[in-house]
Amino acid sequence: MRQLFATLCLLISLQCFSQKFENIALTPPMGWNTWNKFACDINEKLIRDAADALVSSGMQDAGYQYIIIDDCWQISRDSLGFIVADPKTFPSGMKALADYVHSKGLKFGIYSCAGRLTCGKRPGSRGYEYQDALMYAKWGVDYLKLDWCSADGQNPPESYALMRDALFTAKRPIVFSICEWGVNKPWEWGKDVGHLWRTCGDILNNWNVPDAKDGKCWSGGVVINLDIQQGLEKYAGPGHWNDPDMLEVGNGGLTQSESRAHFSLWCMIAAPLIAGNDLNEMDAFTKSILTNKEAIAINQDALGNQGFKIKDYGEFEIFYKPLANGEIAICLFNRYNEKIKIDLNWKDLTSKVWSNNKLLELTAKIDRSDIKLKNEFSIVDIWSKKTLTTEKNLIVEIPAHDVVLMRLSRK
Ligand code: GAL
Repeated sequence: MRQLFATLCLLISLQCFSQKFENIALTPPMGWNTWNKFACDINEKLIRDAADALVSSGMQDAGYQYIIIDDCWQISRDSLGFIVADPKTFPSGMKALADYVHSKGLKFGIYSCAGRLTCGKRPGSRGYEYQDALMYAKWGVDYLKLDWCSADGQNPPESYALMRDALFTAKRPIVFSICEWGVNKPWEWGKDVGHLWRTCGDILNNWNVPDAKDGKCWSGGVVINLDIQQGLEKYAGPGHWNDPDMLEVGNGGLTQSESRAHFSLWCMIAAPLIAGNDLNEMDAFTKSILTNKEAIAINQDALGNQGFKIKDYGEFEIFYKPLANGEIAICLFNRYNEKIKIDLNWKDLTSKVWSNNKLLELTAKIDRSDIKLKNEFSIVDIWSKKTLTTEKNLIVEIPAHDVVLMRLSRK
């Protein structure tokens, strides 16, 4: 009897600690991360400067919250096994840095790895999950990205659930970002484990160059990572997001059209908006993209639906995202290397496409003809700021690799 009671108690207590923190990341997380621009070349001054710039640039005001230190801040473990920040680059330590970030009204994020070593060959969390979680809670960490290097032989759902339980036991609500690159279909098991999961390898700072691993393309430039998201929309929602990787806007690898398209499409697919540029060297154009509040409102919509392609004519695509209160976001995406002209019939969302004044005969690869607009809507074109209506066909030119992003509200 006593044994049964003890087993029951153990099961109940395990149950209590086998959960992720609920009611956080109810909209896709927004912030800034060191990796895309600075990789391992990071230090505490860079982080403080980034926090200052997030505030002074207006990005905080636009919704960006998390300052996230990616790989290479950690150097070793102390004699008791606690993780140690590199004293050369982070002499004041992580607690002081977290305090600084918090003093700006921002949140503090950090990186580790589920394997023995991080991808930058720093100590990982394998075998130290509970100790690391305790340390993060003590420092005031609000966001943890957990990578998947040096994890041979480990089982991904189990490894990530172990850190989830460790974080929960340490009692500080922390957004948990699973960075397993989509290899083991984290969208199928991630919802109970973390708040977001990478669906692909690292984004590259270009438009469409693939990155091959074992001869298989698993990520690449903006449109490569975008294409991997189609079909995953049913797995996303408040508190559990697909993550196509961070933004490359402002890193010099994209044209202005491509930057606008990248940001708009990340808004449409409810991707986490984690900027990855140098916030202190940001030009006016980059700032205008990253802080467009109407585009961000589509990303942060309370319904938490991930938008998806409803028409795919190869190089011309239409994305659709249902929003709260019966509103809709539509994004017309020109993947051609030249400008095109569109004539869009709002009723059934069919369109004619011209390139060089020649009408293209396009056959749709994806055609969600079940999605029709049953009412009349007024339209705001998010980038041109024009207002339109669905009573008339939309006739518009779209530059190469660019978008028209629109919000539709019932009349
Ligand atoms: C990769 C990860 C990147 C970055 C890098 C750090 O595995 O996908 O986003 O965190 O490791 O080494």
